[in-house]
Amino acid sequence: MSLRIASRRLRLPSQCSRSLARRGSSQSFKPLQEASEKHNAKTTHFGFETVPEAEKEARVGKVFSSVASSYDTMNDLMSLGIHRLWKDHFVRSLNPGSRAASQDQAWSILDIAGGTGDIAFRMLDHATNVNGDNLTKVTISDINPDMLEEGKKRSLQTPYANSGRIDFKVGNAEKLGFVADNSIDLYTVAFGIRNFTDKDVALREAFRVLKPGGVFACLEFSHVDSSLFNAFYKRWSFGAIPLIGQVVAGDRDSYQYLVESIERFPTQKEFKAMIQKAGFVTPGVGYENLTGGIAAIHKGIKPV
Ligand SMILES: C[S@@+](CC[C@H](N)C(=O)[O-])C[C@H]1O[C@@H](n2cnc3c(N)ncnc32)[C@H](O)[C@@H]1O
Repeated sequence: MSLRIASRRLRLPSQCSRSLARRGSSQSFKPLQEASEKHNAKTTHFGFETVPEAEKEARVGKVFSSVASSYDTMNDLMSLGIHRLWKDHFVRSLNPGSRAASQDQAWSILDIAGGTGDIAFRMLDHATNVNGDNLTKVTISDINPDMLEEGKKRSLQTPYANSGRIDFKVGNAEKLGFVADNSIDLYTVAFGIRNFTDKDVALREAFRVLKPGGVFACLEFSHVDSSLFNAFYKRWSFGAIPLIGQVVAGDRDSYQYLVESIERFPTQKEFKAMIQKAGFVTPGVGYENLTGGIAAIHKGIKPV
């Protein structure tokens, strides 16, 4: 396990730096310097590495730019196709488009970290084919333009290409400035939140943009309870996935990060507590384990 404590870098606002340089003494600015050091020392996980928070976004960006073109094939290989079943189940459990008989009842769905559109296309398929709803709309938002480009290409092969029901927005889940308060019926995030720098901030943003009664729904890799199954699963994920990444996508490091980031993600109960802390009510036990806890669905409702 590689644990790298990143070196601290002192970055002061330019005016302060100039002023410090003029005085030639850092001593007289000690409180300011200490405060700044403290600020810059804020760290987070990047897989098993500990990195300054300011670095994580760029490093995650690099991973997903690198995997974008092989992302869909790799998902099938890494999960032996099971991610499709999980995603189908996730969407069915949310039943998008139910009771949307008129424009004002149509759902406004925000699929955050939507990547290549796997969840969004399923949402529209379900709304249309199961609920006969041709009005529900999905905005696919992702921080990474390369992932969204793949999504746009895929959307051309769906019936929704020029329907006005799908929209793509580059954006950070932690700063959804382009989404109004209380405007969204359903916020989904699948296999995305473990990559965010500050998950609590992202959860508060989800709470802000949802309408009262709106639903936060997250599908994410999680933690296996059974120790026997866990031993087998860890062998597969740490042994096979980076190797498949190397052979198929020519990129071992990105897939090594992906498996490490799963290990670092909070347990089901810890994540449920984070959702509650953001203000959501979590129905029932608050989560549903899939395939023995390899993945889990968490839901939260914004109180009316
Ligand atoms: C593993 S992919 C999941 C894509 C898709 N939701 C799916 O289930 O196939 C994770 C996605 O999270 C995006 N992401 C990472 N950090 C993000 C952030 N802070 N805000 C929005 N998207 C982010 C990545 O760019 C990437 O497209």
